Amino acid sequence: IRSIRDLDIAGKKVFIRCDFNVPLDEFTNITDDRRVRSAIPTIRYCLDHGCSIILASHLGRPKGAVEEKYSLSPVQMRLKRLLDKEVILSSDVIGKDATEKAATLQAGEILLLENLRFHKGETSNDEAFAKALADMADVYINDAFGVCHRAHASVEAITHYFNEKTSAAGFLLQKEIEFSRNLLRRPTRPFVAVVGGSKVSGKLQALVNLLPRVDKLVIGGGMAFTFLKAQGLDIGNSIVEDDLLDEANRVMEEAKRLGVKIYLPVDVVAAQTCSQDATIKFVTVQEIPKGWMGLDIGPATSRLFREALADAQTILWNGPMGVFELEKFSKGSFKMSHVIAEAHATTVVGGGDTADVVARAGDADEMTFISTGGGASLELIEGKELPGVKVLAKSENV
Ligand code: 3PG
Repeated sequence: IRSIRDLDIAGKKVFIRCDFNVPLDEFTNITDDRRVRSAIPTIRYCLDHGCSIILASHLGRPKGAVEEKYSLSPVQMRLKRLLDKEVILSSDVIGKDATEKAATLQAGEILLLENLRFHKGETSNDEAFAKALADMADVYINDAFGVCHRAHASVEAITHYFNEKTSAAGFLLQKEIEFSRNLLRRPTRPFVAVVGGSKVSGKLQALVNLLPRVDKLVIGGGMAFTFLKAQGLDIGNSIVEDDLLDEANRVMEEAKRLGVKIYLPVDVVAAQTCSQDATIKFVTVQEIPKGWMGLDIGPATSRLFREALADAQTILWNGPMGVFELEKFSKGSFKMSHVIAEAHATTVVGGGDTADVVARAGDADEMTFISTGGGASLELIEGKELPGVKVLAKSENV
């Protein structure tokens, strides 16, 4: 991928597409600003090169019209604090206010455009909208890894108005791509993937792409029950995708053929309802009572998974081990986080939920790399080419 370092940006007006799609509480306070902090190195690099800077992002999923609760104003505030610098927010995206502010922007000044998705053209990858954005600047930088799996106007169509000398990836996007490429192409072995989350359907393609690359595959979370049921176990009321039982068997057969060991839970924390005040039982996967469901991996499984990871040199983790949002069912995910954090391995964490677990467990600083992408990082693990990355590929080496 082309890097911002390859461009001559000195004194130029630079448009930086960021992913400031951050979680907000009911008072629109940012509850996790990792995505904002991750954008700072590219912004500082542009400031150091005497650029004037236009920042653009989406926030939430407004339907192509202004929705006050999705204003980027909380992001403007956070940027000011992180950069210790004035950040101007335009009241529209490509309207009079934005274009006038962009046109008069001076070196060292920063303009943040209002939410790109207040305009229909963003998600429809509209050329006219993309051109209006492109016309504001001399250089285009994409640092929005989290949205690179979307062919949206500020990610894809906008690049039609720049060339190899005027468009490139920012530092965050570059780092994200390099980490996942190294992981999938030349991992230091043993390479163990830990996959969780509630549904097999969301992760099936990722499992299929990982199988020929990993030495071991650890499966936890709700998706493990489809595999357990496929093996003939009675899993009670645990979450299951009956239409994927054959697929689950195929994955297990393929793993056997490739010599990849699959680890599944041997015990679970079970309850009759998925609620914080539910009565819980620790049971083996063979003994889930009728009407009960597994909502977290049990202590024996945590030990088994720890052993599976003991010799790993590279670990990829995507998906929690249980319903970690509820304290009663969070221990399996937290223990997994600690085990991975303490491993003498390159550790890469992907997916919004998993990053949340790691942050809550207090392990964020111990991981080698935590992706800022949710859907985007999953698509990379699935082996897909991301539209936003494809358009910034070096011509000699995609
Ligand atoms: C994300 O949070 O994964 C990205 O910002 C993309 O958001 P979207 O799923 O609404 O396109």
